Amino acid sequence: MRQRDNGELNTFDKITSDHGEHMLGGPKVVDPTGQTRALVVCPVLKNQSNTDQSGIDRRNAENIMAEAVSLAAAIDLRIVETGIVNISKPRPATMIGKGKLDDIGLVITSEDIDLVIFDGRLSPVQQRNLERHWKVKVLDRTGLILEIFGRRAQTAEGRLQVELAHLNYQRSRLVRSWTHLERQRGGFGFLGGPGETQIEADRRQISERITKIKRLLGKVQKTRALHRSSRKKVPYPVVALVGYTNAGKSTLFNRLTNSSVVAKDQLFATLDPTMRGLDLPSGRRVILSDTVGFISELPHELVAAFRATLEEVVEADIILHVRDIAHEESDIQAADVVDVLKTLGIDTDDDEILIEAWNKSDLLDSDRFVEISNHAARRSNVVAISATTGEGIQNLIERIETSIEKDADHYKLTLEAKEGKALNWLYENVEIIERSDDASSGGIGLEIRVPDIVRRKLQRKFGVRLLEV
Ligand code: GTP
Repeated sequence: MRQRDNGELNTFDKITSDHGEHMLGGPKVVDPTGQTRALVVCPVLKNQSNTDQSGIDRRNAENIMAEAVSLAAAIDLRIVETGIVNISKPRPATMIGKGKLDDIGLVITSEDIDLVIFDGRLSPVQQRNLERHWKVKVLDRTGLILEIFGRRAQTAEGRLQVELAHLNYQRSRLVRSWTHLERQRGGFGFLGGPGETQIEADRRQISERITKIKRLLGKVQKTRALHRSSRKKVPYPVVALVGYTNAGKSTLFNRLTNSSVVAKDQLFATLDPTMRGLDLPSGRRVILSDTVGFISELPHELVAAFRATLEEVVEADIILHVRDIAHEESDIQAADVVDVLKTLGIDTDDDEILIEAWNKSDLLDSDRFVEISNHAARRSNVVAISATTGEGIQNLIERIETSIEKDADHYKLTLEAKEGKALNWLYENVEIIERSDDASSGGIGLEIRVPDIVRRKLQRKFGVRLLEV
């Protein structure tokens, strides 16, 4: 590690390579896999706690780098080099200083890099200048996550939300680069040059597409609301799996339902919720819903696209928060997830609604395993599990059942003859203790035993009056 005259570190402060030391100025490497060769640059802003990178203060740079690399791997890039760059003062033109710019440039040449992932936010001007300087494509964190969302989105709404976010991102880049060009030319500001015309045309096309997408989204959302209300008629409690990306949601979902949702060691293997039925030991059936993984510092442009995938969570009766308990930053990740759940209006303090599955317990050493198991045992809404080995899964299923059966009580109600739908629903969902039909009025008197969450659902759906027995 060399030190510059001004005291700034002047190179990638840490460099790792997947094939030993990189050869500065050495022969070009031809990638046998044919994948895009990428370099991941992870900027760490020093002494800046209120910037886009503020999360970095509480998160260890190595972990940030590991997440950046996983994100990049999620779109099948071949990560050839990674480097953490300390930035003491962000440069308006290029974000990083000249010395580091050149050092990275040498690595780009020697390793035949096609793409640089910059795991932070770059202004359009910075992105353009870096691309010019290095002569490769540069993707910042927002651009990278957009790529990932774009590849993973499956439903019409997911795809439209991602495209909308992408277009807004592109449009902001066009506008600002144009301003930048104008300034370079001495600020005449007249339109009509070939560059401006092209940019104006691009902007118009993008704006037209944005208008169209917004209209389509409106339609899709209406249809989806219809679907949801028809699904609400599916007479089962819904259990939504949420959790930080890579926590093991899809693996657990598969284990619980024996289905085969894609579970890969890739971030965001799931973007749209997937639903499956799960039969509990009591015979009661619940619907399990898998959702997209959370991520810290989600660029604000992407929040709507991400939320669109979480509407199912708001509808759920129980939320199963899957945590990678073996991850060094498990607590920070959990806090991020809880924050988002709160913004969705979910009561995260209700132990019957929110159950935590502490996953990957098989990766803990024996001391830590005992510590974690004891900790879990002390909390009524926590179960330690391993989705891979199956350890603790039975406990988890029982815990879900407990929440669902909680406060089961006896009630009496009377339905009119025309309330056939409610009657069918009751037969499918609750225990009917006694039925007495009134032949003259056609009314039906029922005594039922129903747990708290089902009772709430019953009243929400049919507005029936229940009398406690
Ligand atoms: P996203 O789709 O990114 O949100 O990820 P996810 O939370 O659905 O994670 P997924 O199930 O795809 O698992 C991520 C990785 O963790 C995979 O490589 C799994 O094999 C692994 N994994 C999941 N559960 C366990 C576990 O209990 N133990 C171990 N050792 N690995 C696990």
